Amino acid sequence: MISDITAARDAALAHIAQASSPDDVAAMTTRYAGKKGELAGLKKQLGSLESIDEKKAAGAAINEAIATVDAALDERRTAVAAAAVAAQVEAERLDLTEYIGKPARGHAHLVTQAWERLEDVFVGMGFRVAEGPEVETDWHNFEALNMGEGHPARGEFDTLFVDHVAPGGQPGSTLLRTHTSPVQIRTMLDQAPPIYIIAPGRVFRRDTPDATHMPVFHQIEGLVVDRDISMADLAGTIDAFTKAFFGKSWSSRLRPDYFPFTEPSAEFDIQRPDGSWIELGGCGMVHPNVLRAGGIDPEEYSGFAFGFGIDRMALMRHGVDDLRAMYADDMRFVEQF
Ligand code: PHE
Repeated sequence: MISDITAARDAALAHIAQASSPDDVAAMTTRYAGKKGELAGLKKQLGSLESIDEKKAAGAAINEAIATVDAALDERRTAVAAAAVAAQVEAERLDLTEYIGKPARGHAHLVTQAWERLEDVFVGMGFRVAEGPEVETDWHNFEALNMGEGHPARGEFDTLFVDHVAPGGQPGSTLLRTHTSPVQIRTMLDQAPPIYIIAPGRVFRRDTPDATHMPVFHQIEGLVVDRDISMADLAGTIDAFTKAFFGKSWSSRLRPDYFPFTEPSAEFDIQRPDGSWIELGGCGMVHPNVLRAGGIDPEEYSGFAFGFGIDRMALMRHGVDDLRAMYADDMRFVEQF
């Protein structure tokens, strides 16, 4: 009998040692432990034993076997529960060292960089930054800039119209601004001279993209209105800007040109240190009709204005030869700067 009890206990202990989950341990507890377990079942056989001493010895052996098995179950239950928690922690682990390496950092777009540098240079020269809407009226974009209906210069702008009729407006009189010059008008209507502003912004023309054109591009406008402003002030400002933006060994020149909103008008070119010239933008003395449209008396005040493309300046600064590369979102291009 004693050897049966020992064999049953050892078999139970061997089985319990293999329990690998809380469910296993629970099933084995039902099977081996307690009053209805396999070991307790051996007590039924005590009646067949002859002597009292044998019964006592076998009873004690069964109780001891039950206690040993219960202790083994407790130990196994604790171990399996700890292993289950460890497995869950491992499964949910985040490797934070993945983020500690060398993170890839972006940078501002080349056009934004040029835009911000232009603002810095002009603000340093005493200009204030002004803004206007991208969706404009025909009046601000053309009419007030001395380009009445039917003016041939309107055709050069390849205007994109917006399908919207402003209250009191005519059909076809809402458009995407073709240049930043309407900000001249809005600024003059908004404030009295002296005016010293620049207005960088997005402009739109019905153009097919190629190496030098995009239907959406950026310009920066400049406007000065004060007493006794002359063409010399314009030339001096352009030259001071050129040297501040590109460097001391660059210079600028004005060549006669025509714009409806300035008179006289000029194209301005800048000269690289190697002596070559690049055309940068248009400028001139604000036309009296434009001052009047802005509510300013041309007998009392005069002014100059200029406008040029920001995208081209970004291209030149970085030696890029195709405007489309700037808008292609190609990482191999972007990461070079
Ligand atoms: N608005 C003109 C253009 O887009 C540039 C310009 C601005 C010329 C101001 C003269 C004065 O071409």
